[in-house]
Amino acid sequence: MKKIMTGLCAIALALSSVSALADTVKIGMAIDDLRLERWQKDRDIFVNKAEELGAKVYVQSANGNEQTQISQIENMISRGVDVLVIIPYNGEVLSNVIAEAKRDGIEVLAYDRLINNADIDFYLSFDNEKVGEMQAQAMLDSKPKGNYFLMGGAPTDNNAKLFRQGQMNVLQPKIDAGDIKVVGDQWVDSWLAENALKIMENALTANNNNIDVVVASNDSTAGGAIQALDAQGLAGKVAISGQDADLAAVRRIVDGTQTMTVYKPISTLAARAAEIAVELGSNETPESNATLNNGSKDVPAWLLEPITVNKSNIKQTLVADKFHAEKDIYQ
Ligand code: GAL
Repeated sequence: MKKIMTGLCAIALALSSVSALADTVKIGMAIDDLRLERWQKDRDIFVNKAEELGAKVYVQSANGNEQTQISQIENMISRGVDVLVIIPYNGEVLSNVIAEAKRDGIEVLAYDRLINNADIDFYLSFDNEKVGEMQAQAMLDSKPKGNYFLMGGAPTDNNAKLFRQGQMNVLQPKIDAGDIKVVGDQWVDSWLAENALKIMENALTANNNNIDVVVASNDSTAGGAIQALDAQGLAGKVAISGQDADLAAVRRIVDGTQTMTVYKPISTLAARAAEIAVELGSNETPESNATLNNGSKDVPAWLLEPITVNKSNIKQTLVADKFHAEKDIYQ
């Protein structure tokens, strides 16, 4: 009898571990570009949280290459993932590969950046138009009048357009009133600092250094622009915005060469994304607080609130949230 029982227990155990395996949600995370500090944080927090929830995550980075990202997604589809979490390099070109995923019953979560004209299941991000409004407002607070240079993000990134939309919501009335003059408007490929540096050098030359404000859409591009300003002895004199609260940017704010950044609590975003991915992979419907049309459908979304950070509130925000350690900021 005891023998039979032991045998039965063994079978039951084997069965339960098989079903545990079958229940494991397999997630493919396709990241645009791990060369930027921001996305390394997103990856780490996402993977930790998803694994804590019992999921298995495969991560790939396309390093800013459209074709690489499509191949990586195809590869994840053939590996049999249940859920794709995509940070698109170009949100306009993934319709076909996502259609392929849907045919295989794979759920798709657009992470931080919307994917247009595609059958995605959920979108998770911050209120990106608000990010742009915060950047422009901080620049107006610092220099209510003068020559403004607009430095947009990657032209392939839907967020870059939303940031610009938000910036213009705030700036347009001041442009119309003649308080500020837009002396240039450029977009930075792949959001890379080296591209921003060149753009800023050219803008300074074209304007005889007569620029009072740079509305930069994130910290990596602000970093490149500040390098060009510095070479002309203008760092700290020209107001400049940013976004992401990258460590280097926060140090620049302390030094006075960058005016502000927009802090987006990535821990909340990435952890929530892991929960949503696991819910999608378990055929549950994640809670949403917004709906966005992506050109082919109304996509349920979860949008989080961004926070303006300048010299005066670094401790209450970034340090209090343990986003950066105080000793790392004020070396
Ligand atoms: C945007 C993102 C920003 C920024 C940028 C460059 O889509 O919302 O936080 O980091 O990409 O990676």
